[in-house]
Amino acid sequence: MKSSKAQKLNGNASIPGDKSISHRALMFGGLAVGRTEIKGLLEGEDVLHTAEAMRAMGAETTRLGEGHWECHGVGLGGLKEPETALEMGNSGTSTRLLIGLVAGHPVTATFTGDASLSKRPMGRVMKPLEQMGAVFAAREGGKLPLTVTGPKDILNIDYRLPVASAQVKSAVMLCGLNARGRTTVIEDKPTRDHTENMLRHFGIEVEVEDLEDGAQAIHLMGQKDLVAPKEIITVPADPSSAAFPVVAALINQGSEITLSGIGLNPRRAGLYDTLLEMGAEITFENKREEGGEPIADLIVRSSSLKGIDVPEARVPSMIDEFPVLAVAASCANGTTRMRALEELRVKESDRLLMMAEGLKACGVELEMGEDSLTIHGNGRAPRGGATIKTALDHRIAMSFLVLGSVTDEPVTIDDGAPIKTSFPSFVQLMNNLGAAIE
Ligand code: S3P
Repeated sequence: MKSSKAQKLNGNASIPGDKSISHRALMFGGLAVGRTEIKGLLEGEDVLHTAEAMRAMGAETTRLGEGHWECHGVGLGGLKEPETALEMGNSGTSTRLLIGLVAGHPVTATFTGDASLSKRPMGRVMKPLEQMGAVFAAREGGKLPLTVTGPKDILNIDYRLPVASAQVKSAVMLCGLNARGRTTVIEDKPTRDHTENMLRHFGIEVEVEDLEDGAQAIHLMGQKDLVAPKEIITVPADPSSAAFPVVAALINQGSEITLSGIGLNPRRAGLYDTLLEMGAEITFENKREEGGEPIADLIVRSSSLKGIDVPEARVPSMIDEFPVLAVAASCANGTTRMRALEELRVKESDRLLMMAEGLKACGVELEMGEDSLTIHGNGRAPRGGATIKTALDHRIAMSFLVLGSVTDEPVTIDDGAPIKTSFPSFVQLMNNLGAAIE
């Protein structure tokens, strides 16, 4: 795909449903007693892998219309053993959360994935789940393909997360659903809390305790059935997907776009705080709640951005947004410093490296450290004119297409296919706003 200079971005766009929330809605709906109805579900490849896996384990998940789904769940403990390997494609969230779910059932399942997912570390979920009684066989270094067998009796544990990861937190909690008594996960840095919020919505007792050392303990009472909520689950628009047109509008002169119903859970909204500090003109209108999550309509106008130091404490709340922030920083005036980025190295690609190499090839001045990225912007768009390796990473692909909308020379990406994992309508949506992506 090739992205050439856009004139300006204008209009309204409808951002697809939140990926994290969509996965959880299908998993919990597939486990709950009764009928769960979901609207606004993201129909990207990652989420469809979750739907397929839940089906393979006995849950009825049916598509009624665009983004409109229903589930008839199997009841707690009722997942059946899948007859073939569960293919997870590119999706780390499907894999890590479903490993936790399977580990809480006395069944065996094998997980496979694409070349990107097969490089990603699963040891981080294997370790606590082994303590709960699950048995694993995986490739060297805890990589897929991986087989997990859940025990008859699951042990409840207290587990302090060694890395800030909502996926690890969720895997332990989902296994803990079937454990007797209370399972506790302690996190030093707050990560996205969609699992906690939605489990409560399905009637599970989840309590959060502030500890003296500033950490939080999440307690979950096990062996209680999930009950399908009476009201429809409405998935808010994904703030991580919205980030791409938002940054595109900010860096293209004369732009003004409106994005409606964007999820703004504080544990997801770090990018927006950062952009505001950089001088972005973004207004948040019609603040309201949908499906228990705060949402708002965003109006974004082109802005002259300045470089800032991104506070380390904010990293978990914008962990997926560093690639597109790096694009914004490349067009800003001054230096943007991003630190504590070690987790970026184990996402769909090594995002720190892919961004540093790609931006350099586009003429951006930067330094990359083990866990940091410093970008020197001079207040104008970089040269561009490079072909970027996307390494099976949707966010690398979209970030460089956004950059190409403003560079002197077009930016080409070697593979646009990964975009379908999270944002199938991306190219059309961007072009409707005024981008020039072929
Ligand atoms: C996610 C958690 C994050 C994030 C991912 C989605 C989730 O991963 O990067 O895109 O839905 O729980 P980590 O748990 O690895 O930080």
